[in-house]
Amino acid sequence: MDLSHMWFYFFSIFCLTGSSRAVGEFCKDYGEEFDRVFSVPGDAAMLNCTLRAPNVFNYTIVPYNISWYNSKTWRELTREKGKVVVQGTTLWIFNIEMEDAGYYVCIIRTPYGCFKQSNILIVNQTIPDKCGRPYTTEQVLTNKANDKLSCPLTQHIRIVDNYTIQWYKDCKPIKNSNPQRGRFMTYEEKLLIKDVCPEDNGSYTCTMTFNLEGHRGRISETIDGAVKMLYSLDPLVDEPLNDSVKADLGFPLRKKCRAFVPGLGEHTETLIWMAEWTFISENNSYDIYQEPQIERRDKEGVWLERLLNFPVVKEEYLYINYTCHVWSYREYRSAYFTLLPTDSKNLLPIWILLTGLLMFTGSAFIYRRFKIDIVLMFRRMFPFLYTNTDSDGKVYDAYVTYTSLFGGEVSGEAEMFALHMLPQFLEGKCGYKLFILGRDSLPGQAIVDAVEESIQASRRLILVYSGTTFCSRGHSDKDSPVEAWQSFERETAMHRTLLEGSLQVILVELEEITPTQLAFFPESVLHLRRRQGAICWWKSSRVRRNRGLKCGGCREVNEGEDRRGEVASASVFSPSLSSSSRFWKELRYYMPVRGKRMSCPEKNSLLIL
Ligand SMILES: *[C@@H]1O[C@H](CO)[C@@H](O)[C@H](O)[C@H]1NC(C)=O
Ligand SMILES: *[C@@H]1O[C@H](CO)[C@@H](O)[C@H](O)[C@H]1NC(C)=O
Ligand SMILES: *[C@@H]1O[C@H](CO)[C@@H](O)[C@H](O)[C@H]1NC(C)=O
Ligand SMILES: *[C@@H]1O[C@H](CO)[C@@H](O)[C@H](O)[C@H]1NC(C)=O
Ligand SMILES: *[C@@H]1O[C@H](CO)[C@@H](O)[C@H](O)[C@H]1NC(C)=O
Ligand SMILES: *[C@@H]1O[C@H](CO)[C@@H](O)[C@H](O)[C@H]1NC(C)=O
Ligand SMILES: *[C@@H]1O[C@H](CO)[C@@H](O)[C@H](O)[C@H]1NC(C)=O
Ligand SMILES: *[C@@H]1O[C@H](CO)[C@@H](O)[C@H](O)[C@H]1NC(C)=O
Ligand SMILES: *[C@@H]1O[C@H](CO)[C@@H](O)[C@H](O)[C@H]1NC(C)=O
Repeated sequence: MDLSHMWFYFFSIFCLTGSSRAVGEFCKDYGEEFDRVFSVPGDAAMLNCTLRAPNVFNYTIVPYNISWYNSKTWRELTREKGKVVVQGTTLWIFNIEMEDAGYYVCIIRTPYGCFKQSNILIVNQTIPDKCGRPYTTEQVLTNKANDKLSCPLTQHIRIVDNYTIQWYKDCKPIKNSNPQRGRFMTYEEKLLIKDVCPEDNGSYTCTMTFNLEGHRGRISETIDGAVKMLYSLDPLVDEPLNDSVKADLGFPLRKKCRAFVPGLGEHTETLIWMAEWTFISENNSYDIYQEPQIERRDKEGVWLERLLNFPVVKEEYLYINYTCHVWSYREYRSAYFTLLPTDSKNLLPIWILLTGLLMFTGSAFIYRRFKIDIVLMFRRMFPFLYTNTDSDGKVYDAYVTYTSLFGGEVSGEAEMFALHMLPQFLEGKCGYKLFILGRDSLPGQAIVDAVEESIQASRRLILVYSGTTFCSRGHSDKDSPVEAWQSFERETAMHRTLLEGSLQVILVELEEITPTQLAFFPESVLHLRRRQGAICWWKSSRVRRNRGLKCGGCREVNEGEDRRGEVASASVFSPSLSSSSRFWKELRYYMPVRGKRMSCPEKNSLLIL
């Protein structure tokens, strides 16, 4: 048994034998307080009676008195000027001397019993070269980080008035600089150190001067500030960016979390994805899963990466914050993204509209360009769709007029065309029935009657003309019976078709018409030519000398036809097969539908197309 225990033993006997207030008392003994109090001469020390605790008695309802005793003198310690202050559960001793070391007993008395416990005060001489107190605690400073030391006097600070703390490093006072200029800054009981470096390793002392109930005191604590060379700093999260991410429903989505932890040495760094604090599985058979964490170390630190996977984005995943949490050895950081739907709902009608418009334009273009082929193909493939014209009471499919019956040198072409080529194709190959004046009119029949009757019995009127056909009109001999007849025939037909619209006229233009020639054209022909255009034989048969000149009223058949025209023969009557097939197609397009009887050389033309 050492001396202190002896003292305690005697104290207990003293209590029981009754030379103090404790006479006759039996106090429940709680032994020694575990935490020792260390002090040095000149300093102040605070002892705390920890018996005022819920596990000892219910101090919120039970009245109690706390008394302190010095085990050497057995005197109750009360307020003593310049030396002792009892405040609440604490005993403060000022201006410590070596003799103050020892046991201090606190006794708590209640109407139902008493409790006692001894506190130990250890007083040692200051060690001059260490500047501080012999007993120190260690605190770690992380290299390269902004770090702090904490003065271990927080309990004292809560009680004292008007305290100031001065920090010393290896006995030299640290000037409290402002953070812009220096690396040290004090804040409450803390010493903040910016960009810790190995030189910061050393012993730090914090000295608190304070007032307490009129007493002025000073307490110091010394800390060993150990700079840790292997460090791990605050994580820096690169992505996500705390923003929203748009996703298409039904499509996969992958989002990466990427963070950098500056550091040196092996530390445990963790990076995980969570959906609003719900853990996301790493099992890839789940609807949402995260891939394993990837780490890549270099000499600056470690890069951490982890992929969040949505194999299929569903409605219920939207409007949720997906947060990436990163823990380094030292700090925690997080960043998130919010999953939102794309604005596809608003775009959809526009897409439909655009696609529809595009398709419509495309089909319109195709139809315009291949109208004739398409129509002819339909007639051939679906003849039952067309009403047969056989029973409409007409005798002829077309009435052919080439105007200049007994032709001069100019109308020879027209006559040749009308009498030979036209019937050869339309009658011989397509099975149409034509009325050609001069071929089909009965001898002796009055020409006027023949014309009138035949036109009425025809479904179409084909007007074949060349550039000079109408030229003779203006300066022709009006008395000539031929001329008179010609104009009569023409005028009758034109009149009918133009005024009544009962007969469809097909204009066949044999050669390119010059503006001068055009001036001689009868008004009715010009009108028709303007309104419905003409089928141009010359286009398919002749090398076009002036390609820039547009055939005013002619139908533009096909662009490709220009090129074909160039290789075609120069002769009117030997056009290239392909371009002339184009002409015949067009002619057939305007001819009445032959229904089931149609037997034109369709394949041939289609092949050429
Ligand atoms: C004294 O001890 C009690 C009980 O452990 C504790 O609640 C209180 O904070 C302490 N007071 C001081 C000033 O340390
Ligand atoms: C102390 O007494 C109060 C009032 O009766 C009661 O609310 C509280 O729970 C008690 N505390 C303990 C630790 O027994
Ligand atoms: C505490 O001390 C005061 C004054 O000495 C006394 O009046 C009171 O009865 C004591 N209370 C208890 C619970 O001992
Ligand atoms: C402090 O003093 C105690 C006796 O009071 C002694 O045992 C201890 O070794 C001393 N400590 C130092 C560091 O001097
Ligand atoms: C606080 O301490 C300073 C000197 O340390 C003194 O000048 C001042 O009056 C004190 N204030 C109070 C409220 O005690
Ligand atoms: C830091 O200082 C302590 C003594 O205070 C010493 O033991 C330790 O080796 C030092 N560490 C470094 C990295 O200098
Ligand atoms: C993943 O989950 C599926 C079904 O929930 C389970 O069958 C499988 O064993 C799991 N795989 C792992 C590696 O845990
Ligand atoms: C996501 O987190 C941000 C910031 O914490 C918050 O403002 C927002 O409301 C959250 N969104 C959802 C959908 O929880
Ligand atoms: C992102 O949000 C987290 C809180 O969820 C916050 O701690 C972090 O500083 C934010 N990062 C950025 C770059 O705004």
